[in-house]
Amino acid sequence: MSPAPILPRTFSDQAVKAQYARVAWFYDGWSRLTEEKALQRLLTLTEVNDGMQILEVAVGTGRLFAQLVRQNPAGMTEGIDLSPAMLRHAQRRLGRSIRPACYRLQEGSAYQLPYTPGQFDRIFNAFMLDLFPSEDFARVLTEFMRLLKPGGRLALAYFSHGNKWSNRIWPWLAKHLPALLTGCRPVALESALQQAGFQILAQESISQNTFPSTVVIAKKPT
Ligand SMILES: C[S@@+](CC[C@H](N)C(=O)[O-])C[C@H]1O[C@@H](n2cnc3c(N)ncnc32)[C@H](O)[C@@H]1O
Repeated sequence: MSPAPILPRTFSDQAVKAQYARVAWFYDGWSRLTEEKALQRLLTLTEVNDGMQILEVAVGTGRLFAQLVRQNPAGMTEGIDLSPAMLRHAQRRLGRSIRPACYRLQEGSAYQLPYTPGQFDRIFNAFMLDLFPSEDFARVLTEFMRLLKPGGRLALAYFSHGNKWSNRIWPWLAKHLPALLTGCRPVALESALQQAGFQILAQESISQNTFPSTVVIAKKPT
């Protein structure tokens, strides 16, 4: 069977910002019910050692970011997101309990990442590319590749079609009621990852309360 076509993107960057300003206050609850399993799987599958240089693009409310910072107190964990409202929640989550010298959060876009080529051992990116136009997938992944050290790893999670009958409600909602899912729709990233030059090390389908996602761990060749 040929893969399902990817729906066009619904919202511009400005509209995405407005959407996340609207949902930031309840995003944690949504994420706990639908995406938590995928985020925890990313952490399990990606070796994170203390002392690493780590970047998370699209930190959202910081659920994954806070765990990365806690695992990497002797290293540096950088986080960036387009939405000031989501970043405020992330900053609050980190609070005063974590030494501020081991992390930095900033507002910015995945299209223009303000970091040095070859800076990072690990890049994490969860549930962001499912908001992007499909013609930009390879471009953004190539930018991640440029920022990784040789042998560095990319940990990706994204909304996908899933392979269970019960997953089908989500692609239907994405198509008919896109604002309900802030414009996220199911995507497939294997060919864009290959186009960007990544070597796929692991790929798993995940279903949480029927919400389908895929996690991929990919490597920049040495
Ligand atoms: C579905 S949420 C996922 C948040 C977080 N990664 C998680 O898994 O909980 C999507 C996030 O992507 C961010 N985002 C959307 N477009 C972006 C862009 N161009 N650059 C950086 N972040 C972006 C949004 O502001 C939002 O916080």
